[in-house]
Amino acid sequence: MIPVLAIDGPGGSGKGTVSKRLAQALGWHLLDSGALYRLVGLAARNRGIDLANEAQVSELAEQLDCRFAVPENGELVRTWLDGECVDDRLRTESAGADASVVAALPAVRTALLARQRAFARPPGLVADGRDMGTVVFPAATLKVFLTASAEERARRRYKQLMEQGLSANLRALQEEMEARDRRDAERAAAPLKPAADAWVLDCTDVGIETVVSMIQERLKQAL
Ligand code: C5P
Repeated sequence: MIPVLAIDGPGGSGKGTVSKRLAQALGWHLLDSGALYRLVGLAARNRGIDLANEAQVSELAEQLDCRFAVPENGELVRTWLDGECVDDRLRTESAGADASVVAALPAVRTALLARQRAFARPPGLVADGRDMGTVVFPAATLKVFLTASAEERARRRYKQLMEQGLSANLRALQEEMEARDRRDAERAAAPLKPAADAWVLDCTDVGIETVVSMIQERLKQAL
C-alpha cells in the first residue's frame, strides 16, 4: 500500500504550505487538488463555457491538459494549462471563487477522481484539498483537518497574495473567503468537512513549523 497523508481544510488554513513542506521533508509526491479545480475554472473561462454547464465543464475536466513542476527550493509550484504557464492567473481570489463554483458540480468531481488518485505513487503522497480524507483517499494513512479562525485565515491569504505581487483588500478578501467556505461546506457533493477519523488541528495560534513537526510525529506513529 502506498502511504497517503491527507491534509484537508478551508482556504488560508496554511494547508498548502504545510503540505509542500511535508512532501519535501518526506521526499513524497504532492497533490494540490485545489489547483485542478482552479484549472478547470480557468479552462472554462478561456473557452467561454458557462461555469454552471455541468456537461461541458465535466468534459473539460476529463480532458484537462495540464502540467505541474514542483521546484526543489520550496518556491511556488509552476503550472501549465494547454501548454501555457498560468501561475499568475491561477492563484487569484477570483480563480478560487470560479474553482468553488465548478467544484460543486458532481460530474466535475467524478471526472477528476482518477487523475487525483494517480498521484499516489511510491514512496508516498501528501494530498492537499477539501475531500482528500473523505472521498479521494478514504483509506489514507493519516488524515489531518487543518483549520484556523476566519480572521487569521484571511490575514494569511492576504500575506500570501502580497508576497506573490497580487493586489488584495483584507476586508473584501475575508468576505470572499467566507462566501467560498460556505459554498464548499454547504454543497451536496463532497462538502468540506473533516473525515470521521481525521485529526482536527486548529492552528490559529500555532506557527507553520510547529504544525509541520506535529504532523510528522503523528505520521511516524501511523506508518
Ligand atoms: O485550495 P484552493 O483554494 O486552491 O481550492 C480552490 C477551490 O477548489 C476550493 O474553494 C474548493 O471549492 C475546491 N476544491 C474542492 N475539493 C478539493 C480541493 C479544492 O472542492 N479537494
